[in-house]
Amino acid sequence: MSSHQFKGDSMSFPNTRMRRMRRDDFSRRLMREHQLTVNDLIWPTFVCEGKNVREPVGSMPGVNRLSLDQLLIDAERAAKLKVPAIALFPVTPLEAKSLDAAEAWNPMGLAQRAVRELKKHFPEVGVITDVALDPFTTHGQDGLINDDGYVVNDDTTAALVKQALSHAEAGADVVAPSDMMDGRIGAIREALEAQGSANTRILSYAAKYASSFYGPFRDAVGSAGNLGKGNKYTYQMDPANSNEALHEIALDLEEGADMVMIKPGMPYLDIVRRVKDEFKVPTFVYQVSGEYAMLKAASQNGWLSEQAVVLESLLAMKRAGADGILTYYALDAAEWLRAG
Ligand code: PBG
Repeated sequence: MSSHQFKGDSMSFPNTRMRRMRRDDFSRRLMREHQLTVNDLIWPTFVCEGKNVREPVGSMPGVNRLSLDQLLIDAERAAKLKVPAIALFPVTPLEAKSLDAAEAWNPMGLAQRAVRELKKHFPEVGVITDVALDPFTTHGQDGLINDDGYVVNDDTTAALVKQALSHAEAGADVVAPSDMMDGRIGAIREALEAQGSANTRILSYAAKYASSFYGPFRDAVGSAGNLGKGNKYTYQMDPANSNEALHEIALDLEEGADMVMIKPGMPYLDIVRRVKDEFKVPTFVYQVSGEYAMLKAASQNGWLSEQAVVLESLLAMKRAGADGILTYYALDAAEWLRAG
């Protein structure tokens, strides 16, 4: 072995020491490129009928289905923490489900009532509604089906328009179509304009993949049983594709989307980066139910340190280019961030 390395001559030390800037907290802070703040968080939550109901979701420990009175309690927490927005997902009673999903645009439906309650009590908190038929169909698909069980595009779009209009009428600030039908953004945009809801924003689930990470969500809203062995491959995107995501997003922007979303989150951050680089529009990412379940389960087992991994996962989404993140951890994360 040569003694050359230990002599202290000009070849013996690194020209650049990356670790210098990492040595102290002050210089780490100064060169920090990205930051996660409470302004980045959207809280998705499940609402159900009844009073005083906080029903735990088995596959998502810490997440509950909330009756509207309980929703207001948690929404107050969100408002106090200054979480910018809440995304609502109704749990529809079986008897309200049908083949034509008509409950979806019932002005007295659960989602519509939840919107009104939230806007009445917390007008400063943005309310986002999910536009898709799966909580309302007896078969658990996001759209209307023909005799072959195929989800038909244009009739579904007509139904989604009715649903989106009823959400806007109830006072939703943002409607978020998560159904992946073709042309629905344009149709909803046109109908909102015609109805005088020009300022209702559209957050398009533009690149929504046919992911196995949605399992716990389908338990939570009770569509898993209805869907059975069915899948959503004929409308949600193939996880193998990324150019197709850019194509989808280009179309939704052309049709009038104000914001676009990529979903799921952590396994799809390459898509977030490509979308942000290409379009430079408000870009959101959904840390979905399966991601929550993984982080929670590992934390509960003591295998991961919950606060640290959750905040790291959310920061990674910002670094990938997301302007905001839907996460079931939103309220916890807001509290952790506030505590510093
Ligand atoms: C339904 C919808 C789904 C999610 C949001 N809206 C499930 C699905 O497409 O089957 C998933 C959210 C999550 O997993 O957290 N249109």
